[in-house]
Amino acid sequence: MTDVLILAAGLGTRMKSRRAKVLHELAGRPLIAHIVKAAATLAPGAIITVVGHQAEAVEEAVRVESARTLENGDSERPELEFALQAEQRGTGHAVMAARDKLNGRRGPLIVIAGDVPMIEGKTLGQLADAHASEQNGVTMLTVRLEDPTGYGRIIRDPEGSFVRCVEQKDASPEELQEREVSVSIYCFDIPALLEALAELTTDNAQGEYYLTDVPRIMQAKGKRVGLVPHHDPEEVSGVNTRIELAELERKLRHRKLRELMLSGVTIIDPATTYIQADVEIGQDSVIHPQVIIEGASRIGTGCTIQSWTRLKDVEVQDEVTIRNSTIIEDSIIRKGATIGPFARLRMKTEIGEKAGIGNFVEVKKSKIGRGTKASHLTYLGDATLGERVNIGAGTVTCNYDGVRKNETIIEDDVKIGSDTMLVAPVRVGHGSLTGAGSVVTTDVPPDTLVAGVPAVVKKKLK
Ligand code: UD1
Ligand code: CA
Repeated sequence: MTDVLILAAGLGTRMKSRRAKVLHELAGRPLIAHIVKAAATLAPGAIITVVGHQAEAVEEAVRVESARTLENGDSERPELEFALQAEQRGTGHAVMAARDKLNGRRGPLIVIAGDVPMIEGKTLGQLADAHASEQNGVTMLTVRLEDPTGYGRIIRDPEGSFVRCVEQKDASPEELQEREVSVSIYCFDIPALLEALAELTTDNAQGEYYLTDVPRIMQAKGKRVGLVPHHDPEEVSGVNTRIELAELERKLRHRKLRELMLSGVTIIDPATTYIQADVEIGQDSVIHPQVIIEGASRIGTGCTIQSWTRLKDVEVQDEVTIRNSTIIEDSIIRKGATIGPFARLRMKTEIGEKAGIGNFVEVKKSKIGRGTKASHLTYLGDATLGERVNIGAGTVTCNYDGVRKNETIIEDDVKIGSDTMLVAPVRVGHGSLTGAGSVVTTDVPPDTLVAGVPAVVKKKLK
């Protein structure tokens, strides 16, 4: 069974950050999560991560992603192991830090840097297959780059066999011309790796233990070194600076938008549309320019999402229209509802079928019934509204008494007059009416008109 070792102890100096590089986010998830996801597709026995900088946060990111991939049924549960590299003295040193975790394991080991987030599981599988069929001691994934600056160059002999891998800072001018590079993704025979590690030195320009020296050492000991050239530089490029991070973000974003368009979603302006990897959108939905959709959002079919809208972790059912400049988090919008422009919905709000939430309306932790409308300038918090309710402009559920949040209940077919203050906890019975400017401090029975400050019963309606 294959095991995986992820090198993620470094700070990533070139990121100029206080945060460890592998925790920087790509498509809304830490870089290391992308590696864990690709690794999980191999159904590995163990995923061992070498941690150092912000070790706890990196461990947590690995655990969270592993749980997430399991939830999606992508793989069996791998063992998660962590090795601490307290001081970072190079990629070879990082593998040495995991020695205890590797001792006794006999299967092939995929070693991968924590900063190559575009890697696909399929490529790791091909590397492991080549390793097995060629019976190599180590198999390295390589790629030819237009500009190989910064990468370790692969030096081959005239027959094309591996000679050595030389780092940028140690290479001769002639070696620097070489465009085939190591991408820091390997498949090792574990006992041969452990044996070679013992011979690593820091005799190089950076005074580090280089993992890239291990293949040369193994070859000297009579092991085969295999090279697997990869043809897609994008997939194996590493993130070393925030510029590279932004470039990968753009590429992933376009990959996602292309998928959506090919599946039947209209994206009017892909250049200004931001949709994260896990978002699902149904057929014939139309996404206007400058929309952001994040997290685990699911949008149904035939929806329209207008400009300057941001949706995060929302479920939007079919035939919903979300008008300009609306912000929704962690909420459900049922079929045929209309939201916005300038609406803000949050904290497990549920909007019923064909309901309408309009201009400058904020809804927090509330359930809005089918066909109910709050069209202008309203705050609904901790409220439950029945069906066919109409909320007049300027209505406020006064849910906070300075100590706790209180609930407002408005039953079916109620009409709340403009500028009504509903001082919670309070209930308005079905079919009732509040006059404009009312301050409702006590429960209103069904089919009753109340008005005034404080509101009093004016008459029964039936
Ligand atoms: C490394 C390779 C280089 C290759 C390039 C591909 C070496 C010496 N060089 O260079 O040949 O072309 O990747 O992207 O291996 N790390 C640790 N502990 C350490 C040092 C690094 O865990 O002591 C981890 C980092 O967190 C990172 C990964 O190893 O995830 C790679 O380190 P990085 O410094 O980015 O290596 P490169 O200079 O890019
Ligand atoms: Ca790197």
